[in-house]
Amino acid sequence: MLEAVNLTKIYNELTVVDQVSFQVKEGETLGLLGTSGCGKTTTLKMLNRLIEPNSGRVLIEGEDISKRQPEKLRQRIGYVMQNSGLFPHYTVAENIAVVPRLLGWPKQRIRDRITELLHLVGLSPESFAHRYPQKLSGGQQQRISLARSLAADPPLILMDEPFGTLDQITRSQIQQEFLQLESLLRKTIVIVTHDVFEAVTLCDRICLLNQGKIQQLGTPKQLIFQPQNQFVRDFLALPTPCCQASRKYFSTDPK
Ligand SMILES: Nc1ncnc2c1ncn2[C@@H]1O[C@H](COP(=O)(O)OP(=O)(O)OP(=O)(O)O)[C@@H](O)[C@H]1O
Ligand SMILES: [Mg+2]
Repeated sequence: MLEAVNLTKIYNELTVVDQVSFQVKEGETLGLLGTSGCGKTTTLKMLNRLIEPNSGRVLIEGEDISKRQPEKLRQRIGYVMQNSGLFPHYTVAENIAVVPRLLGWPKQRIRDRITELLHLVGLSPESFAHRYPQKLSGGQQQRISLARSLAADPPLILMDEPFGTLDQITRSQIQQEFLQLESLLRKTIVIVTHDVFEAVTLCDRICLLNQGKIQQLGTPKQLIFQPQNQFVRDFLALPTPCCQASRKYFSTDPK
């Protein structure tokens, strides 16, 4: 469905994304995991041409995206920005309606879709549709951002730390809801996170990055039980509650 081939990005002679390659199958969730500054957001933004690579390419359904018009491309790819990224001068409804409007949907269809999506993310349309983002809590903003990314029902969704600003309790609650969202089950998703537990619970496969380079690409079990190098071992073995929880999440049986 999606393929990144040797993606490389250089800023001021510093290679921040270095020959990164991965494939994401249809319906699969891939996590881009790593510490702050390792190149996750830069990698994600090269998948929808918010950033152009210095070398390498991205194929979506076999087609090189550099040949597509960026605006048209992005209308078919949902994007949840780091820190929600809602337009502050638009209401919740207007934020959700951005892509459907660009696609020229009739007004009634847009209104129906807004109602449907607000229900989907657990917010009542009557109380939320006409509010402005700054009047919402961080968790509510994240939900709206998720609703906005789903608006035109894109087959591919890119998410940059979608739960990043939330406290641990709200975060776990939204993660659980996220796992159960019917309309996300069939989507192809690339999700950025620096949280090991989030990666192992939400992702089918994980691409662990360090200083722009892939350290290991595999299933959560493979990274936990068959780390390919010391960095991977250390990253997944950190004695934090998250990592302990992620080990408990699986049985200790490496199979
Ligand atoms: N426009 C830019 N110009 C110069 N350097 C940049 C630019 N954007 C990002 N960088 C650098 O590239 C590296 C990777 O940045 P990126 O935003 O991809 O990291 P990240 O993994 O998403 O980090 P975080 O978890 O903190 O969001 C960082 O060292 C950053 O300082
Ligand atoms: Mg980032």
